[in-house]
Amino acid sequence: MQIPSAVEQKLRQLAKHGATLNCYIYDTAPMRSKIAHLTEIMPAGVEVFYAMKANPHASFLKAALESGARGIEIASLGEAEKAIEAGFSPAQLIYTGPGKSPEELAWAVSHGIRTVHIESLTEAHRLNAIAAAAGHTQDILLRINADFDIHEAQTTFSGGSKKFGVDEEQLDHILPQILALDSLNFRGLHVYAASGVLNVADLLKNCELVFGMAQHIEQTYNGAVCDTIDFGGGFGVDYLETGHDFDPQAYADGLSALIKRYGFGGRTFFLELGRYLAADSGWFCTEILDIKTSRGKKQVICAGGINHFRRPAALAINHPLAIVRMGKQTLFDGQERIDHESVYFGGPLCTGADKLANDVAIDAADIGDVAVFGLAGAYGLSMSNLEFLSHERPAEIVL
Ligand SMILES: Cc1ncc(COP(=O)(O)O)c(C=O)c1O
Repeated sequence: MQIPSAVEQKLRQLAKHGATLNCYIYDTAPMRSKIAHLTEIMPAGVEVFYAMKANPHASFLKAALESGARGIEIASLGEAEKAIEAGFSPAQLIYTGPGKSPEELAWAVSHGIRTVHIESLTEAHRLNAIAAAAGHTQDILLRINADFDIHEAQTTFSGGSKKFGVDEEQLDHILPQILALDSLNFRGLHVYAASGVLNVADLLKNCELVFGMAQHIEQTYNGAVCDTIDFGGGFGVDYLETGHDFDPQAYADGLSALIKRYGFGGRTFFLELGRYLAADSGWFCTEILDIKTSRGKKQVICAGGINHFRRPAALAINHPLAIVRMGKQTLFDGQERIDHESVYFGGPLCTGADKLANDVAIDAADIGDVAVFGLAGAYGLSMSNLEFLSHERPAEIVL
């Protein structure tokens, strides 16, 4: 990985203050250009939402707002509040998540958010009662757990037994009951197959399956129209630095062909993207506090671990990693260093699970240098174990 010069410069500037370096550095320029590009190339009717779970930092929300994202996919009331604080209107919010509390649903109804994505029959009844009491009709999408999974994906959201949505096989049992609820306005389907997908064909297969379901619904239930279809997130990024990135143009072309084939022009299609938009706008930078050899392998201990950057351990994947050499004085003769070897990087926590990277080839590093993990703009701090061991929260620095 090539560390951007602005990131390196910032680290050198911070080092002058003398404090241990442990921070996220953000530059949302990549996110802004990705949103603008997607908006330009996607077929008519596609609306790009930012799934803010990837990174709820205000700079990412601002980037989404200013670069023309249609809105925000929220998964909690806390996210809704942050999105509104950033300048989005409630009508720009769409709400997905398998466990929305009555308070959260009541907030959604009373603030007039755009769509609530129903994940179960219970939730449909709960929302219907809340909307009826408020004298509103709430637009909804029904989330389906399709009988389809993308094996190679980092995380799958459909296929097999899942807590997300209702099984495709139960659609004809559940949908009529939802259509009968007077305070819900059925607008269509939400089917999110998997996250971290690099293979465009796999995601297009999901789109095709959803179109088939929509056709079935419209042919079976008089008056039911799927005018809005949400394909979820899932566009991947190249964590393993294989050189094969997700190809948004191929996705746009494939989706366009499907829309034409199914005669679905004029409908609305949501993309709620997190990783693809945010990942390359952030770097986790953490100082090397110690290097030692344990039974033949170098153990590199950094200032932050899974408390600040949990994703590599949680997903058992190495992120791109490079070292900024800081040229610090050695503490003693014989101090260990890395010299063209494959090593383990961990944090300061009292658990063997505190892994940042393993078997990673490093040319040279010394104690006091800074390990910089790339593609850390998505699911970095937001999915970390921040409270574990009560270390100071890492700064989030915006370039
Ligand atoms: C409902 C929902 N939408 C969107 C996303 C964003 O997915 P991704 O980061 O893969 O684009 C997620 C991620 O978990 C999700 O759960």
